[in-house]
Amino acid sequence: MGSLLTCSTLVLLFVVVFLVECNNAYYPGGGKHRRFASHNYKDALTKSILFFEGQRSGKLPPNQRVTWRKDSALSDGSAMHVDLVGGYYDAGDNVKFGFPMAFTTTMLSWSVIEFGGLMKGELQHSKEAIRWATDYLLKATSHPGTIYVQVGDASQDHACWERPEDMDTPRSVFKIDQNTPGTEVAAETAAALAAASLVFRKSDPNYSKILATRAIRVFEFADKHRGAYSNGLRRYVCPYYCDFSGYQDELLWGAAWLHKATRNPTYLSYIQANGQTLGADESDNTFGWDNKHVGARILLSKAFLVQNVQPLHDYKNHADNYICSLIPGNPSSSAQYTPGGLLFKMNDSNMQYVTSTSFLLVTYAKYLTTSRKLVNCGGSIITPRKLRSLAKKQVDYLLGDNPMKMSFMVGYGSRYPLRVHHRGSSLPSISSHPSKIQCSSGFTIMNSQSPNPNILIGAVVGGPDQNDRFPDQRSDYEQSEPATYINAPLVGALAYLAHSFGQL
Ligand SMILES: *[C@@H]1O[C@H](CO)[C@@H](O)[C@H](O)[C@H]1NC(C)=O
Ligand SMILES: *[C@@H]1O[C@H](CO)[C@@H](O)[C@H](O)[C@H]1NC(C)=O
Repeated sequence: MGSLLTCSTLVLLFVVVFLVECNNAYYPGGGKHRRFASHNYKDALTKSILFFEGQRSGKLPPNQRVTWRKDSALSDGSAMHVDLVGGYYDAGDNVKFGFPMAFTTTMLSWSVIEFGGLMKGELQHSKEAIRWATDYLLKATSHPGTIYVQVGDASQDHACWERPEDMDTPRSVFKIDQNTPGTEVAAETAAALAAASLVFRKSDPNYSKILATRAIRVFEFADKHRGAYSNGLRRYVCPYYCDFSGYQDELLWGAAWLHKATRNPTYLSYIQANGQTLGADESDNTFGWDNKHVGARILLSKAFLVQNVQPLHDYKNHADNYICSLIPGNPSSSAQYTPGGLLFKMNDSNMQYVTSTSFLLVTYAKYLTTSRKLVNCGGSIITPRKLRSLAKKQVDYLLGDNPMKMSFMVGYGSRYPLRVHHRGSSLPSISSHPSKIQCSSGFTIMNSQSPNPNILIGAVVGGPDQNDRFPDQRSDYEQSEPATYINAPLVGALAYLAHSFGQL
């Protein structure tokens, strides 16, 4: 036998085995298989969570790791005699926008619900990132019938380039109530509280109960007093976080989260009765802070696929239709990709769609694997493995496998954006430059070519344009601004990838 295996056969065999290993590099289900990772997903995961500390508003805790940031906005809420200290600045400015903050919280929570079990040491950091938001959302919803949805006047804030610690623009407080309803922001807030209640169910049952009880009340308010905050508060919330997709998607998404968190049959009945009118099978496949339709479809498909909730069986089809729209080369495919292979939805903050889509792909792959199901796209069979490899391709692009040969996560890899559109990161820290930098003097730095002095580690920027180009200009908010909702779904996708390549 040994004599038949000549040296060259052995070499050939080795090469074949090696190639098979490479092709199987993306082995579904995780485990201890030996694979070839393209990236250090664990490092990226750690950084993606650390980023949230740079976005913190309020009194920073002793264990704050991003030490160039200091306390800020310590009297937020005082304009309406309420305590609204805390929460997150959404992106590169110093406004606290409740709508994207709530969506960020929902997606961070979903990341932990699906992949927290794989996160090891990063689980605690993820939970802290969620709690920083939910402590704030509990404050914002503490008065029944009122939700405080924004602190800060966006147009005046944007007229300055100031560190949060120096901020002297009006901290105006905006609220919704039955006279000025805001169904989209209320229902998203309910979704966030409900999703977070699942995160803390075991580790802090008391906190979890408080979140769930509040979610129920907030959803009831959202549904009962229907109207768009983009109407009542138009001057203040538009064009920044104006809800273009309507509030139907948030009602379906909110009900889906309440169904999952409370297991109260009321929400199942609500979804059955209203799913169609709320757009359960709408064709738009955008998933971000504005439109949650496809997120609701994937989440509700889990109830059918994993928990065997038969009345929701249509959501497998709704979810499949969404998945088919993403997969290039099948009849119902409608997604656009750049020449370099990046999912491209919009010029402004495109990377949020890349991260949210990657999360939905690995999450749906997990549900399909558990239920031993596949997706049929007009006759071609799509396996969970195909979904995972598309997600991996998107994340790998983000981390550096792209025509620019750079990472779009600050502080990851050897080349990354140096001039992110972010006030705190671009101005010197108050620990090295304690004297105040006035409103307009910051623009000298904003408009300069100097790299940001404070590395906002883990921040993922809006990213390349439709031709894979990225100018790395600080003034370019569409491409160079980070945002909490870009990172939140990436946390889950990176936890999955890090685990599946044996890094966690
Ligand atoms: C439950 O949590 C709330 C809010 O965090 C806290 O004020 C309260 O003391 C906690 N109660 C118990 C019994 O731990
Ligand atoms: C996106 O940018 C491209 C190139 O600058 C431009 O042609 C297109 O109109 C922009 N699309 C939107 C929706 O603004």
